[in-house]
Amino acid sequence: MTATSPQKPAWAGDDFLSQVVNRLIQTKPLYALMKRQARQVLIKTAEQNGIPWRQTCADYAAANVAAQIDQVQNPQVTYPDYYQVPFHAYDAGNLCWQAAFEAESATYSMALRVWPNDSLAPQAAQDRLRSSFHEVLEPYLTQPVENALDIGCSVGISTMTLHHWLQQRSPAVHTTGLDLSPHMLTIAQARDAQHEITQWLHAAAEATGLPAASFDLISMQFVTHELPRTAARDIFQEALRLLRPGGTLAIADNNPKSPVIQSLPPVIFTLMKSTEPWSDDYYTFDIEAAIAEIGYERVTTHETDPRHRAILAQKPES
Ligand SMILES: C[S@@+](CC[C@H](N)C(=O)[O-])C[C@H]1O[C@@H](n2cnc3c(N)ncnc32)[C@H](O)[C@@H]1O
Repeated sequence: MTATSPQKPAWAGDDFLSQVVNRLIQTKPLYALMKRQARQVLIKTAEQNGIPWRQTCADYAAANVAAQIDQVQNPQVTYPDYYQVPFHAYDAGNLCWQAAFEAESATYSMALRVWPNDSLAPQAAQDRLRSSFHEVLEPYLTQPVENALDIGCSVGISTMTLHHWLQQRSPAVHTTGLDLSPHMLTIAQARDAQHEITQWLHAAAEATGLPAASFDLISMQFVTHELPRTAARDIFQEALRLLRPGGTLAIADNNPKSPVIQSLPPVIFTLMKSTEPWSDDYYTFDIEAAIAEIGYERVTTHETDPRHRAILAQKPES
């Protein structure tokens, strides 16, 4: 499937349904109640499916992992306004320990939701989610990948999985994980017990400070839906600067054209919108057109699973 005009769910953008949902979310007591109940259901469902949600948090707290934040935090980093808003029902968004301790379990839960009828174990669902992305990426990697960058790496699940996959084709690959949350990066570093990742970098993806033309592959997995389109555009621009000629930008995220996403039950899409502040912007943003306009070529879109798409693009050779 190649780039065509965007098609969004009826619950996103300016449509009547979207406006009703937005009004509902702004009704604070109702939203607070919905949020609390949804969270309880989320944790209970995860634990019933073999994801030790509360135990994982307790383990990170007991190990005092938070004390390691100084190893990754860059005090010079400033946070854009769009980032300092509640996300995923955490008042402090990605900038708090609760979000960081729960991110691993939330990532495993997300993969399980893709194939609800397949009775997959959490790791099997996670592997399937990532390998469907790697599969469509493979034909783009015509040269050995010496340096890869995972933008918005969170607690490092996307980074480590990408690194292991790349190692099979390029054993000497160096992979960097970059995120704006020092809390997430602290957990990522703690999970990387064998120090396989070259660097866990605390930076804003729109101004990384990394040298130009230093990566063969840049991935951005499940990040774009957390960004207003202006920030997404700035990040695509920075990625173009960071890529070597012929290098690949690989984006994975929710697929606005997916029938599953388009027909989400009202309670679910209301909750999704209420916990993803830039969701309307994401679902109405023609990413393929923006990327092509910025200067990438060979822009293609692929349905990778029932909910997600990958958008791939290449930096011109010259
Ligand atoms: C849903 S998580 C991504 C998860 C991870 N890539 C994966 O696939 O499992 C989105 C991440 O993007 C990060 N992020 C959002 N805006 C960013 C920015 N401007 N620069 C760097 N990281 C950003 C957030 O801190 C968060 O950790």
